[in-house]
Amino acid sequence: MIAGVLPVCILGIVAAATLSGQGLGRTPQILSESLAGHDSFEFYCAPCHGRTGRGEGSVAPALKAKPTDLSRLAQRNAGVFPGERVRASVTGTGRPVPAHGTTDMPIWGPIFRAFESDVRVRERVANLVTHIESLQQASSASNDPGAQLFGTYCATCHGISGRGNGPVAEQMRKTPPDLTKYTARNGGAFPIERLRQIIDGHGVAAHGDREMPVWGDAFRSARGGLSPEAVKARIDAIVRYLGAIQERAAE
Ligand code: HEC
Ligand code: HEC
Repeated sequence: MIAGVLPVCILGIVAAATLSGQGLGRTPQILSESLAGHDSFEFYCAPCHGRTGRGEGSVAPALKAKPTDLSRLAQRNAGVFPGERVRASVTGTGRPVPAHGTTDMPIWGPIFRAFESDVRVRERVANLVTHIESLQQASSASNDPGAQLFGTYCATCHGISGRGNGPVAEQMRKTPPDLTKYTARNGGAFPIERLRQIIDGHGVAAHGDREMPVWGDAFRSARGGLSPEAVKARIDAIVRYLGAIQERAAE
């Protein structure tokens, strides 16, 4: 039977990938004691799927199949996170077991069960699914007011995910920047006040060639005219949304 060999083999690959970059000379750790979803994900999944789940893990280039972008599962499912399908595809119950190892995605149910009790496996998988849900990129179907405002006023240029790939981006002289990297570029802290100012348009040089609309003025002079409080509430909601779609800083 391969059952005894397979887990150790895969865990060896994953542990080696986890350790590379952490310095050599340490005994590879084969199991993650912690049941926290974040820890299990970093240990077992990030080598292939990447820490943010987007599929850019260190082992990914060596695989036949590209690891699925786990941050878009909700987006690709009409805005609803398919929790049960994810659980099934992680444990292996939802997938036909390929006879010839044609999938690069390990079947984790039996691997985990080879090392720990069913109770721990259930909890580990449940926490993993919750963690993957937390990695989902905001989708337009969200009912967060900031997401809706962003979808209405910003996504045409910046793209619904804020990455600068909106439908009119190509026609602009200046490419709309990727708005998901502020936290990463700012030492892990999201610069709330700076973003408020950029969006409001205050403290930003008023060059005539600015392609980015001055949203404070646009909202203030909107049909009916918004009160200063309403303008501030809109901008705050948008800034909160931008905070939520930041890529996590690599540290
Ligand atoms: C050795 C690389 C590798 C590791 C480690 C890995 N995956 Fe995957 N995963 C893949 C690949 C490749 C796919 C794409 C489909 C396939 O080849 O079966 C995939 C697909 C998936 C899918 C299917 C998404 C869908 O469309 O339903 C889920 C969910 C998933 N992985 C979760 C995980 C979780 C959770 C872990 C950690 C416990 C993990 N993966 C570890 C390589 C990996
Ligand atoms: C008509 C296209 C367009 C729309 C709509 C738009 N932007 Fe922009 N945005 C740009 C362009 C182009 C830039 C690049 C800098 C410039 O021209 O001033 C930019 C720059 C920015 C910046 C500064 C990036 C940096 O760090 O340099 C932020 C923040 C921003 N936009 C947020 C928003 C928000 C929030 C909205 C919606 C309320 C929005 N944008 C709507 C085109 C647009």
